[in-house]
Amino acid sequence: MFDEIDFGRIDLEEAPPLEEPARQFYFIAKCREWVKDFEEKHGRLPKACVTTFGCQMNARDSEKLSGILRDIGYEMTEDERADFVIFNTCTVRDNANQRVYGRLGELNGYKRRNPGMKIALCGCMMQEPEVIEKLKKSYPFVDLVFGTHNIYKFAELLCRSFESQGMLIDIWKETDKIVEDLPVERKYPFKSGINIMFGCDNFCSYCIVPYVRGRERSREPEDILREIRRLVADGVVEVMLLGQNVNSYGKTLDKPVAFAELLRQVEGIEGLKRIRFMTSHPKDLSPELIQVMKESEKICRHLHLPLQSGSTEILRRMNRRYTREQYLELVQKIRGEIPDIAITTDIIVGFPGETPEDLEQTIDMVRRVKYDNAFTFIYSKRTGTPAAAMEDQVPEAQMKEGFDRLLKVVQETAREQAAKLQGRVMEALIEEVNENDPSLVTGRLFDNRIVHVPGDASLVGKLMPVSLEECHGFYYMGRIYKGDVLC
Ligand code: SAH
Ligand code: SF4
Ligand code: F3S
Repeated sequence: MFDEIDFGRIDLEEAPPLEEPARQFYFIAKCREWVKDFEEKHGRLPKACVTTFGCQMNARDSEKLSGILRDIGYEMTEDERADFVIFNTCTVRDNANQRVYGRLGELNGYKRRNPGMKIALCGCMMQEPEVIEKLKKSYPFVDLVFGTHNIYKFAELLCRSFESQGMLIDIWKETDKIVEDLPVERKYPFKSGINIMFGCDNFCSYCIVPYVRGRERSREPEDILREIRRLVADGVVEVMLLGQNVNSYGKTLDKPVAFAELLRQVEGIEGLKRIRFMTSHPKDLSPELIQVMKESEKICRHLHLPLQSGSTEILRRMNRRYTREQYLELVQKIRGEIPDIAITTDIIVGFPGETPEDLEQTIDMVRRVKYDNAFTFIYSKRTGTPAAAMEDQVPEAQMKEGFDRLLKVVQETAREQAAKLQGRVMEALIEEVNENDPSLVTGRLFDNRIVHVPGDASLVGKLMPVSLEECHGFYYMGRIYKGDVLC
């Protein structure tokens, strides 16, 4: 496993190795010396907190940051009044950025009370030059700043920051490197995200991700399978394969492998019970993928298929490369083959040039597809993207009004869809004790829906049959099913 490395045996008198990940193990060992000094001086271990903004990919990156901090010897906490705090940032919409700036102000207050505290920032927002300028000017109390391409060098950067004064900034424009086998601290012992690819080449005209995450790179299937086998041996029953566009997985490999084929191989891993993946770009969803999903016993009956807009003209301006008709046809094909599949989506309201008629088309699409859930966003102008330079930006009040109208329809449809399961017995992976009511545990169904059932912590991580008794819109109240019928 990852944590079998004996850091005590790494010779720090030697120069750091050049190859990865050995180089990072060397710096972890070096940081451990610093932790030892801290413990001697303060009579306790230093505490570290990793705060994540943004998507599943960032969440997985944060598990890597936590794994490194744990191996360095930090005690991990969720309290930001820690000795080391790192924000793993997102910049997909402006409100994500504003939240980071707001929270940084709070951290400054904590640092005044604990001058030894170190503050670090990483992630997508750091790949934007204007953010770095703003940090230098207005947030000089930040100690370490790095981006998405050199996150694997976290231990090395932390070590350098211990040895230097002032703000240490290291941002790379690109990388073609994928570093395997760094330590990871998983949030859940029984489920895990797995990166199967990094970056994005689609350049949807509103989206900043290709600029901050770089070009699309796929991991070798053997590396992915090896990681999953290790996870399963460590108690994981559910994996989520992660990428900005998993349907184009494998195209850039020396020996190309289709996503459907990767799924087939993952399915073969003994002991693994459930497979999820996200995100699927409609333009690249292959008939083979539908077939593999249909035949699979492990791939969950859930597809996140971002629509973005129901108007062909807006889709063209968004550079999505499918039409309204093509999307509908795809959904019909999927539902025809896999009738019990839940389909969820992302929709943007207020893209430049969007007219009330365009929005009607989107609303009509929601009614036709009958999404099980949809994440709706107000368009946010991102500097450097083609859409930011488009002339006909939609006024804010119009966007807000459109958003509210859309949301109502989305909620109605999702409610109708959810109600269909009432009275059924389905298998749920119990994920946690309910935060608000500790007499309940919360589980996730095969189709990604949530169910709360009476139970205790001993059920967490187990797959249990549950009867779905009361539908409350997005979630069910249910009971562990004691019979032996599963449907
Ligand atoms: N790779 C995924 C999405 C990643 S970003 C895909 O292609 O589907 C997650 C969602 O954020 C997108 O689906 C989109 O709906 C939304 N989004 C991206 N850029 C946005 C912007 N500039 N304004 C508002 N929403 C945006
Ligand atoms: Fe952004 Fe489009 Fe890439 Fe998704 S596919 S990350 S929306 S550019
Ligand atoms: Fe945000 Fe970066 Fe994900 S911009 S949505 S954290 S890839």
